[in-house]
Amino acid sequence: MISEETKINAEVISVYPDRVKISVDKLEDFKIAEESLRVGSYLKISDNENVMLIAIIENFSIEVNDKGEKKYLIEANPLGVLKDGKFIRGGDSIAIPPKKVEPATEDEINTIYCNAFSEQEKFVFSSLASNERIRIPINGNKFFNKHIAVVGSTGSGKSHTVATIIQKAVKAKNGEFQLNNSHVVIFDIHSEYKSAFPDANFIDISNLVLPYWLLNSEELEEILLETGERDNYNQSSVFRTLVTENKKKHNQGQTKIFYDSPVYFDIDEVINAINNYRNETVNSKCSDRYMIDDNTYTIIGGSTDVNSGIKMTSSERIAMYFEGEHVFHPTKNQNITKGDYADGTLDKFSIRFQSKVSQDRLSFLFGPESKTVTFEKILLQLLGYAPDNHANVTLIDLSGVPFEVLSITVSLISRIIFEYGYFYKRLRNRAKPEEKINNDIPILLVYEEAHKYVPNSDLSKYRSAKQSIERIAKEGRKYGVTLLLASQRPSEISETIFSQCNNFIAMRLTNPNDQNYVKKLLPDTLGKLIDKMPTLKAGEALLVGEAIILPSIVQIDECENPPSSNDIPFWELWKEEWKDLAITEIKAEWRK
Ligand SMILES: Nc1ncnc2c1ncn2[C@@H]1O[C@H](COP(=O)(O)OP(=O)(O)OP(=O)(O)O)[C@@H](O)[C@H]1O
Ligand SMILES: [Mg+2]
Repeated sequence: MISEETKINAEVISVYPDRVKISVDKLEDFKIAEESLRVGSYLKISDNENVMLIAIIENFSIEVNDKGEKKYLIEANPLGVLKDGKFIRGGDSIAIPPKKVEPATEDEINTIYCNAFSEQEKFVFSSLASNERIRIPINGNKFFNKHIAVVGSTGSGKSHTVATIIQKAVKAKNGEFQLNNSHVVIFDIHSEYKSAFPDANFIDISNLVLPYWLLNSEELEEILLETGERDNYNQSSVFRTLVTENKKKHNQGQTKIFYDSPVYFDIDEVINAINNYRNETVNSKCSDRYMIDDNTYTIIGGSTDVNSGIKMTSSERIAMYFEGEHVFHPTKNQNITKGDYADGTLDKFSIRFQSKVSQDRLSFLFGPESKTVTFEKILLQLLGYAPDNHANVTLIDLSGVPFEVLSITVSLISRIIFEYGYFYKRLRNRAKPEEKINNDIPILLVYEEAHKYVPNSDLSKYRSAKQSIERIAKEGRKYGVTLLLASQRPSEISETIFSQCNNFIAMRLTNPNDQNYVKKLLPDTLGKLIDKMPTLKAGEALLVGEAIILPSIVQIDECENPPSSNDIPFWELWKEEWKDLAITEIKAEWRK
């Protein structure tokens, strides 16, 4: 008689590197703690208790033989080996053919996840989707020091996931103190995170100051110059010279001043100079004499002679033109001709330029404060170090930023923060060359709807943001600046950026293009787990990457204060009594 223990109900019938096939006689007995198995459940395959191969069920099928007897076939994906309580990825240390196969117990699965990392490193924000009692710790260092992607269709739970992760990260502490040293900057395009982070350092269009003089050449030209216009070359060369000269004028102590140097210049003085160029007249007999009509030159007998006009070198001329708009003697006299740029080529540029600079909606770039604010103040504000408000989370609400400068705004802020990391590292390394940690105030930058700022597109309007963010994607790790990109259209994000992500939270994704794109970027060993992507529930995700011991389908914890992105209960709202529309308030908001 066969004893209970040796009776074989299930056996391994074939082993491939990426798959094991198991035949089960009585499926109703092949379960553990009365929980039936399903796709995604774990099996252990072993010959002895010390070493066991852990595999995840990928599919079931039923075979009926000639006698009408049913046999159940299970295909499972081997994940790794549990040996003396420690889990190792990969599974070739098991003797073939292994005989015993059983469902893994909750304890065994827990052991895999729990023993994966030291207590110090653990960061937990989810449970196993198939068993919520099993918490899924990930390695917090490996998670935050490489870039993170959160992808999923609309309503799959990306914003809630981002909120959960950051809420938990900023609450974690190693001891008794008020604020920990976590630093997160969120670019909030839909203004939905304020409710999730009530204590955040909140920046929106009303208090954002990003002075124009911090823009690099590409960004400045993107805003101020007309692309593709015939006279573009003229415009940009005049503009470059004037900006460079004006930067030199205002930063005389500094030796190396270039067009791109992030130092103050006075944009109104540049406008003065452009307008002087437009109106300029010169002495046709002596081309370095400029006919400024302020009685300093003589007109003899209604005509100019060779000594009329103010003689100036080109740098004296620029300096004088910065000072204000001058009146020029008209060209009626045949000895007075128009200046080089006074043929109308700068007219449109000047008008466009002045209208941009005076626009109310762009006052965060060009307004009065942009001339008085200091670099230090901007950096401290962006990093949550404002004197009266130290904050772990800085929330940059972009909803009021005009669309045409959105990319530039994001680009500039990202660049300032990256360069902070870069120079901070340089400073630390110089002070203490033996120092191993390059940046002891590392920063996470969170981009909601990342495809909007860094699309897979070469259009010039995205160029600056792409450059800044791609640079962080490639080099940020060394300087303590990490990206978290959330997107519902992963296939539309710059591939350079996306392929640098090491940890993925892939939520429900229904668009086949996006699915394929994400599949390409994920490791091959995922097997059929990845096919579950279209069927995940809200808040469920496939968690893959360096920071997790095993790719797993998890349920992300609900966040404490949700972002204001909740589904609207249409059906219930529609059944309520007719509501009045606050049209005056809506209009006022619209026009703000
Ligand atoms: N972890 C979770 N547990 C339970 N429900 C969740 C979870 N995450 C999200 N949800 C629910 O799913 C809905 C959509 O979530 P969320 O706004 O985060 O989606 P999203 O992916 O950011 O969508 P969109 O791309 O449109 O911004 C919300 O109503 C929320 O209550
Ligand atoms: Mg969202």
